[in-house]
Amino acid sequence: MACKLFDLSGKTAVVIGGAGGLGQAIAQGLVEAGANVLISSRKEDSLKKAQEEIKAATGETVCYYAADATNEAHVEALVAEAKKQLGGKITILVNAQGFNKKQDALDFDIETFRQMLDANITSFMISAKHFGRHFKENGYGKIINLSSVRGKIATKGPGNAGYCATKGAVDMLTKQLASEFGPFGVTVNAIGPNITATPMMVSVFEKRAADAGVTVDEYLKQQGEGNPMRRMGTPEDIVGTAVFLAAPASDFMTGNILYPDGGLTAIG
Ligand SMILES: NC(=O)c1ccc[n+]([C@@H]2O[C@H](COP(=O)([O-])OP(=O)(O)OC[C@H]3O[C@@H](n4cnc5c(N)ncnc54)[C@H](OP(=O)(O)O)[C@@H]3O)[C@@H](O)[C@H]2O)c1
Repeated sequence: MACKLFDLSGKTAVVIGGAGGLGQAIAQGLVEAGANVLISSRKEDSLKKAQEEIKAATGETVCYYAADATNEAHVEALVAEAKKQLGGKITILVNAQGFNKKQDALDFDIETFRQMLDANITSFMISAKHFGRHFKENGYGKIINLSSVRGKIATKGPGNAGYCATKGAVDMLTKQLASEFGPFGVTVNAIGPNITATPMMVSVFEKRAADAGVTVDEYLKQQGEGNPMRRMGTPEDIVGTAVFLAAPASDFMTGNILYPDGGLTAIG
C-alpha cells in the first residue's frame, strides 16, 4: 500500500506546460501517485501527444485543454474547464510553462525580454490569482512553480539576463503568495532545477556547443561535470520533488524553493 503522506488518490491537478519536457514528466508522476490530472499549454497537438504518451506509460488518461497562460481570459476558461473535467474540485496547480532565449545583455532585444517576463512570470501570477480563488473557496490547495537554479545564482558569462530576472521573480512571487495564501490552507512552493535536457533546451545546447567548438554530446558531458553529482539532470529527477510538494507530506511547508540540482546550489 502506498504511503499516505505521498498518496494523491482523490486529488486533482492542473499542469500548465504539461506537454513540455518537465511538465509532462511531472504530470505522469502525479498520475502514478494517484491524482486525476489535466494538462494545458497552447498547442493542442502537443497536448494530445503527451496524453497518448502518459496513457502508454501508466494506462491512465489525462484530460487536456489548450490555453495561453499569459492571457487572463484563457486562464479563467481553464479553471472552469478543469473544474468540469476533473469533477468540480482542483487541489494542485503546477506552473511548468515558459521559455529561455539567451542574448548578450548589451544586445538584448527588449521585445523578447518582455515576452519572457510575460511567459515566465506574469502567467504564474495570472494562474495563481484564478486557481488561488478556487483553492481559497475549498480551504486547501497546492501551487508548485517551476523556478530554476537561475533564480538564485547567475550564469557565468553572458546570455541569461532575461531568464535569471524572470526566475528570481518566480522565487519572490512564490514567497509572497505563500504569505497571502497560507491563512486559506494553500501552500505555494517552487522547484529550482539545474539545466535539464528538454525541448526548451535543444537550441540552447546546439548554440552553446557550436560556440565552444564541441559536439552537443561533449557539451552535455561537460555540463554534467559542473555539479557534485557529476551528471546532467533528467526530467525524472524533478518528479519526486513535485510529488512531495503536491502531497500531504508537505502540508506545513510553504514559501520554499527546493533544488533537485545535483548539488549545484550547494557549491554555486
Ligand atoms: N529544462 C531546463 O533546463 C529547466 C531548468 C530549470 C527550470 N526550467 C523551467 O521548467 C519549466 C518547464 O521547462 P521545460 O524544460 O519543460 O520546457 P519545454 O519543454 O519547452 O516546455 C515548456 C512548456 O510550456 C508551454 N508554454 C510556453 N508558453 C506558454 C504559454 N504562454 N501558455 C501556456 N503554455 C505555455 C509549452 O507549450 P506550448 O508552446 O504549446 O504552449 C511547453 O509545453 C519552465 O518554467 C522552465 O523555465 C527548465
